[in-house]
Formats: sequence, structure tokens, C-alpha cells
Amino acid sequence: MSVPVVELRGAGKTYPGPPPVVALRPSDLVIDRSDYVAVTGPSGSGKSTWLNLVGLLDTPTEGQYLIDGVDVGSLPERVRMSMRAERIGFVFQSFHLLPHRTAVENVMLGSLYLGRRRADRQRAAAAVLERVGLAPRAGALAGELSGGERQRVAIARALVADPSLLLCDEPTGNLDSASAARVLDLIEEVHRSGQTVVVVTHDPSVAARARRQVTIHDGRLAVR
Ligand SMILES: Nc1ncnc2c1ncn2[C@@H]1O[C@H](COP(=O)(O)OP(=O)(O)OP(=O)(O)O)[C@@H](O)[C@H]1O
Ligand SMILES: [Mg+2]
Repeated sequence: MSVPVVELRGAGKTYPGPPPVVALRPSDLVIDRSDYVAVTGPSGSGKSTWLNLVGLLDTPTEGQYLIDGVDVGSLPERVRMSMRAERIGFVFQSFHLLPHRTAVENVMLGSLYLGRRRADRQRAAAAVLERVGLAPRAGALAGELSGGERQRVAIARALVADPSLLLCDEPTGNLDSASAARVLDLIEEVHRSGQTVVVVTHDPSVAARARRQVTIHDGRLAVR
């Protein structure tokens, strides 16, 4: 039995307020290696709260969250931050690339905190750009790429440090339907290669691509 990538054990989040807001009720969830999970829920249901916990941006106020079997609640902030850099690859709706840097420089930023040599980081970045079909655009400025290309660069940046979890927040929210389809195909291929993937989305057609769906209503997590 391998250790799950994500394990929530009665994990919940209450914002202190005042007044206190129970944003995530105590929840249990296991995401095994190589799974592909969609998380959906209406506005205000607790998706961002859940994403911040699972992405190591925040800690639960009750219960436990374990990533790769490590209970993050007991870790000092500094250690949790370095675990985030090593184990979580984030993909955002609005790409978050540096527009005046090239595609390959942006991808290299994904491995900045790992203490590898620059030449090795550059080689790894070029290889992962090739994998997302953007080798010919490696030297282009991010600001001069199409939206779909930018998101593929962002996925490359998220993957370059070989994370335990690829965590995507509305990855197609800013894309036209053709670019969205290509990004979803890429995410599916990344999943098929063995990567553990979580996609948080409002869009049922995006969620339908995942192997499993988790819904959040009113801070209640339901696993289907
Ligand atoms: N820092 C905070 N302090 C207090 N309450 C908060 C805080 N952040 C979120 N909330 C509340 O927690 C609940 C869940 O919010 P959350 O942002 O997780 O929802 P969401 O599902 O991401 O919504 P959306 O789809 O609109 O982004 C909401 O009632 C929200 O008002
Ligand atoms: Mg949100």
C-alpha cells in the first residue's frame, strides 16, 4: 500500500472573524497517487478554502491534513512553504506568468527553490516545454503568447519540479473553447503519465473529464 498524496482526516477550517465563518466542515478525503479529481461547488461553498488547505497555503483549524503522509499542521510555516515549493504545482486561471520573460525563463522559475544548478534547470525547462508542445516558442516572451500557449507554459512551470500534486484552479476559465480543449487534453495526458491531478472548477464539462468528482456545498465535502 502506497501512502496517499492527499489525506484529510476530519480537516476543517473556521475563519476567526468576528463573526467566525465555518468555511470547511470537518472532512475526510483520500486522493491516491495518479488519481485525477475534480472539485466543484457554487460560489461561496468553500472551494478556495479547500484549495488553500490542500495547496499548503493555509492550515486546518481542526483535524489533520497529510500530504505524502506528512501531517502539515505540525510543521513550522517555513517548512510548510518549502514543502509547497517541492510538492505542489499550481496552475491558475490567469496564468501568472512574467510577461517580459521568455517561456523557458518562466518555466525555470518553477524550480528556483530547489537549489539545482541553473544549467540543469534550463535543460529541465526545455524538456517540459517540449512535452507541452511549445519547444518552438521556448524563446518567445510570455506576453506575446496566446492565452492557450500561456496556460501550457504555466502547466510546464508547474510540472518542472516533478510535484506530488498538480493543483489547477479554473485552468480553462480565461480560454476560448479551442484553447480550453487543448489544455484539457494536456491535463489528461499528464494524468495518464502518472501525475496526480486536482482541478477546481465551476464548469461541469471540465469536471466531467476527471476520473472522480468531489463536490462542496456550504462547506460540506461530498465524494462521489
Ligand atoms: N479570510 C476569510 N475570513 C472570513 N471568511 C472568509 C474568508 N475567506 C472566505 N471566507 C468565507 O468562507 C466561505 C467560503 O469561501 P470560499 O472563498 O472558500 O468560497 P468559494 O467556493 O471559493 O467561492 P467562489 O466560487 O466565489 O470563489 C464564504 O462564506 C466566505 O465568505
Ligand atoms: Mg474561490
